[in-house]
Amino acid sequence: MLKNTAPLKGEITIPGDKSISHRAVMLGSLAKGTTEITHFLQGEDCLSTISCFRKLGISIENTNERILIHGKGLHGLSAPSEILDCGNSGTTTRLLSGILCGQPFSSTLTGDDSIQRRPMKRIIDPLSQMGADIRSLKQNFCAPLSIEGKKLTGIQYNSPIASAQVKSAILLAGLYADGGTSVTEPYVSRNHSEIMLAHFGAHVTCTEHTAAVSPEPLLEGRSIKVPGDISSAAYFIAAGLLVPGSELLLKHVGINPTRDGILKVARAMGGDIQLINENAENGEPTADLLIRSASLKGTTIGGELIPTLIDEIPIIAVMAAFAEGTTIIKDAAELKVKESDRIQVMTDNLRLLGCEIEPTEDGMIIHGGKPLHGGTVDSHKDHRIAMSFAIASLLTEGPVTIRDKECVQISFPEFYEVLEKISGSSAF
Ligand code: S3P
Repeated sequence: MLKNTAPLKGEITIPGDKSISHRAVMLGSLAKGTTEITHFLQGEDCLSTISCFRKLGISIENTNERILIHGKGLHGLSAPSEILDCGNSGTTTRLLSGILCGQPFSSTLTGDDSIQRRPMKRIIDPLSQMGADIRSLKQNFCAPLSIEGKKLTGIQYNSPIASAQVKSAILLAGLYADGGTSVTEPYVSRNHSEIMLAHFGAHVTCTEHTAAVSPEPLLEGRSIKVPGDISSAAYFIAAGLLVPGSELLLKHVGINPTRDGILKVARAMGGDIQLINENAENGEPTADLLIRSASLKGTTIGGELIPTLIDEIPIIAVMAAFAEGTTIIKDAAELKVKESDRIQVMTDNLRLLGCEIEPTEDGMIIHGGKPLHGGTVDSHKDHRIAMSFAIASLLTEGPVTIRDKECVQISFPEFYEVLEKISGSSAF
């Protein structure tokens, strides 16, 4: 049934975690003293965060080997003389907004076309409740955002959605508020902000669905080694499972339980994944992942699992297309407001290759196991769509061309090189 791709073999060093890299730059800038970051993700999104903090007066050295941040403390940022360009990065836009609301100066944030379509009301509402003056310069609550720094008051926010970007924006604003701030979510979202805030010296408390911070912490510079990004590892987890005869070792991957849904789903589909060398770095658990090919079957994914694998749903959809039986993905309406509308874009592209897939209001239903043919798919400049179809192309009966495939620069600049190395093919 499948194209005769040679088995994938080898060891891959997975690039640094995007979420953790952003937060390390942000908290290093707000801490007093030097922060050294190694295995930092040199992707466009994280470089946008560095560029914004430089415009806020922080000296940041980037030698590729390491990042050195000369932090000036919680009140050390200075007024930017230019608009802050967050590029394609939702994490930069939302978390930085939280930080800027409590500063004694005004600022404006913007980003690319995709960022200017993404919803910001989800942060504007709670930050306004804290006393912030944050407005969209458009009619639609999207970026550009204009912020006048104000004195903030802590809130106990009940978030309607499980979103680490919303939670983190509020907690970061809470560092500058009068009184404590907490966020309660319907399901737990990734907790990297909480872990890193505590690592830098903030007072953070977490109960099942709630995270809380105390204001005015004394943050101190730290050394941070960023774990490999499980969201980037996911493409090679899928490739290793799907291509017959494969065996891949993915080194030093972050396996924080708020991010490891891909492992649970891959196993539920029949995948063979072993964790070795389990360890921890700055409060973040890590492991090497040994992936061996297996025949996959469909599964159902929803509820509290969704925030733990939200960025992996495009590659899970590809796995589902090649798995026997039906996969149902539900409770994932957030997919519509990512870098692209990932429900629509995955549906259109998988259909174009011959897959039977139905979009739903909050996910998709995929009838897998039939051979897919080649074609030209559109990434919509969404990095996760481009990488998902590069992996699909290992298994399709004809070649797949990906429009704007270079958008992988956002989160995994060396993606095609790694794929060429382990597949022994120069087709990418
Ligand atoms: C992120 C949180 C997630 C995720 C995004 C990165 C973060 O977004 O999709 O890629 O770094 O906090 P939401 O929190 O909006 O779901």
